Amino acid sequence: AAEDGHELWLRYRPLQGQAMVQLQAGARSIVVPAQPGSPTLRAAVAELQRGITAMAGREPVLATRIAQGALVLATPGSAPPGVELRWDELGREGWLLRSTRLQGRPVTLIAANGEAGLLYGSFAWLRAAQTGADLSRLEQRSVPKVGLRLLNHWDNLDRSVERGYAGASIWDWWKLPDLLDPRYVDYARANASLGINGTVLNNVNAKAESLTAPFLAKAAALADVFRPYGIRVYLSARFSAPVELGGLKTADPLDPAVRAWWRAKAAEIYERIPDFGGFLVKANSEGQPGPQDYGRHHADGANMLAEALAPHGGVVMWRAFVYAPDAKDRAAQAFAEFQPLDGKFAPNVIVQVKNGPIDFQPREPFHPLFGAMPKTPLALELQITKEYLGFSTHLVHLGPLFEEVLQADTGHGGTVARVVDGRLHGHRLTAIAGVANIGTDRNWSGSQFDQANWYAFGRLAWDPDLPAAAVARDWVAQTFTARPAARDAIARLMLASREAVVDYMTPLGLHHLMGTGHHHGPAPWVDNLERADWNPVYFHRAGRDGIGFDRSATGSNAVAQYAPSVARRFGDPRTTPPELLLWFHHLPWDHAMPSGRTLWAELVARYDRGVATVADMRRRWAALEPDIDAARHAEVAAYLAVQEGEARWWRDACIAYFQAVSGLPLPPGVRPPA
Ligand code: GCU
Repeated sequence: AAEDGHELWLRYRPLQGQAMVQLQAGARSIVVPAQPGSPTLRAAVAELQRGITAMAGREPVLATRIAQGALVLATPGSAPPGVELRWDELGREGWLLRSTRLQGRPVTLIAANGEAGLLYGSFAWLRAAQTGADLSRLEQRSVPKVGLRLLNHWDNLDRSVERGYAGASIWDWWKLPDLLDPRYVDYARANASLGINGTVLNNVNAKAESLTAPFLAKAAALADVFRPYGIRVYLSARFSAPVELGGLKTADPLDPAVRAWWRAKAAEIYERIPDFGGFLVKANSEGQPGPQDYGRHHADGANMLAEALAPHGGVVMWRAFVYAPDAKDRAAQAFAEFQPLDGKFAPNVIVQVKNGPIDFQPREPFHPLFGAMPKTPLALELQITKEYLGFSTHLVHLGPLFEEVLQADTGHGGTVARVVDGRLHGHRLTAIAGVANIGTDRNWSGSQFDQANWYAFGRLAWDPDLPAAAVARDWVAQTFTARPAARDAIARLMLASREAVVDYMTPLGLHHLMGTGHHHGPAPWVDNLERADWNPVYFHRAGRDGIGFDRSATGSNAVAQYAPSVARRFGDPRTTPPELLLWFHHLPWDHAMPSGRTLWAELVARYDRGVATVADMRRRWAALEPDIDAARHAEVAAYLAVQEGEARWWRDACIAYFQAVSGLPLPPGVRPPA
């Protein structure tokens, strides 16, 4: 059958040459603790058997005794004599891979404190085999830095997916709980291979129905499938559910009857799903109900739900994505509402903050809440599905975007990664969430390369300090080819792609120029929406005098929400990086750029560069034809052709529009499109 990408990065194709020799020598048997009884251990062993059988061409035997070339799965309780290691360094979910000798025989140790760690370690060993590591000299150790590594599905109960570009929801609610689609197991395997340990099943724009008994039975069935893979189920909760489902007159979080309703609901959920993770809540945001409807604040609402979940060990992830129609600057709203509540949240509440202050744009500065709420655990919310970055047809690799926000220095004493992993302010409750790009398409994500965004999210959620470039190379090696020249060529193409989309859509700090509703094509001219802060003109503010949103002291002063060092840098156009210039400043068209060009000429040059990069990506992909199976190569090539056309569309539409409002001719040497 033609390759269609359905296996994701768990393809396990036969190895070649020396790699095959090493694999056959190093994975003759799998040694497991005497009773390999638990579902998680069975899942780990099954994955090793599947991978080794496919890659080595023969099945490893299952054994309890050490022999030459054994893979030895060991926990402190089951480790064979002779295993000496610092177990405390592996934490609850971490793992160690070590080439060593036991009873005089060369073996490979996969060690962890618990079975989840053994599962993750098994996947790590398989990844080492797939990516061409020397299996006879393994010494790797990894411990997750973030506790809750979650996918957020924006999946509706009718199986449509908000901002989904990969088909329908994979949750077949009609047939659940009776029919368990085998895809659920593959979904769990893929996530476990990255270390993702939780999933929010339903859309943040939640329906109360998701908390009714029939849906809880369906969610419980999924939880049963995912449990062996270390994945917990969470639900988005609609704040007004006590009214809609409980027949109460109010959802006021301080009303005793409302609190009792949520306590009873939580108890009902835990009866069905004993390890239920908790609630994700979008409240008083884009028309969703919330505590402010009753004159209460976000912490009142979050704490009420936290109180209901606490006896069962659940958490509340309360989203900070809020903006009011009358706000002077939409980017400033979340900070204004949330920062003053620091210290007011219950211990099992995490405030979930998008990477930037607007909404998953091709480029945004990091959100000013990171670092500014030291008493509150903050989760980072990233969007894996490419709502504003060309949907699933544009090849845009998000690893560098994720890395950019994680490594941004908040000015509060550490990077966003240090805030999120809890180290900066000493939090033990830590989380990263990614809005999933998964659907019923054969390739899961709508395109081959969008799988890499799911992959990069998972790897960086486990370790926010991994270099995006290394993660991209791993993905290519597992998904396309481990041959270094082709692997690196593909990874380079991926790593250049994010800057390309910034250039051809919203260069120099521009943002939200996308057509309303669909958010796909350009519409910088739109000026007539029901809310001013949805209009692209609200964001770019282009006119005869110049372009850009003044968020400095002379404008909205949103820049003052950052730590002083950051506020100083972004508050002055001379020290603001060109990449964020028009995010923070409104400047005349003839403003001198570091390149020596005027702002207008620079803008045009960046749009041109974006188109040129995509054209170059196409050429480079074409040259990779001998290295890649025909079906997947052709699919990517077809999408790249679409992307090049749409990059031109973006460039030409935006330049024509900005030319019209500025009244400027095209810069010297630039010719209008044919
Ligand atoms: C964006 C997106 C919505 C989504 C919202 C959110 O505005 O367009 O579809 O509901 O973000 O994150 O809540």
